[in-house]
Amino acid sequence: MAEPINALFGTAAARDGAAGSVVALSKDEKVAIYAALDPFIHDLCGDDRLSPLAMMDLVVGALHNAFAPFFWTGFYRRIGAAELEVGPSQGTLGCSHIAFGRGVCGTVAVRQQTRIVDDVHAEPNHIACDSASRSEIVVPVFVGDRLAAVLDVDSTLPAAFSDMDQVHLEQICAKVGSALARRDLRGVIAFED
Ligand code: SME
Repeated sequence: MAEPINALFGTAAARDGAAGSVVALSKDEKVAIYAALDPFIHDLCGDDRLSPLAMMDLVVGALHNAFAPFFWTGFYRRIGAAELEVGPSQGTLGCSHIAFGRGVCGTVAVRQQTRIVDDVHAEPNHIACDSASRSEIVVPVFVGDRLAAVLDVDSTLPAAFSDMDQVHLEQICAKVGSALARRDLRGVIAFED
């Protein structure tokens, strides 16, 4: 449903041109960016004045703006026994809701393990919210032992995500999960229908 609206944001040629200007980061560049982000994300996850949504919004904003190849960065929050809802996110429009088992996000919600997809166009169970996406990583977020959300990062570059991104994003999602566990999640995250 989001794809036709996303197509309005620019002509395909302009968007492909913009995507073409994004340059892949080297491993060293990524390590340096994750290291620079680490204290900021640590502090905001430890800041108990922040509401759950404000905390998640700032994590998304930090990641999205720090890495030029991140085209869409966002959480899908669990809002029932088997449903995810978009937000907070940055980038073009995401799909509003994803059922467990559908798409890469829904698969990660069921399997509760990170997935990296090097070419989303070759992934039969990928939901194309925006055709400009080429690769993605989806990382589960747990509150205690229960899945509370997934972090979804898409790139216009193929194979933009490595094991190193997985390690760092899993550390960030562990901090987010611990921070969520200390907060009132009513109206934000629900584990049952
Ligand atoms: N890539 C996801 C859909 C969400 S959008 O990419 C923002 C998936 O297949 O689960």
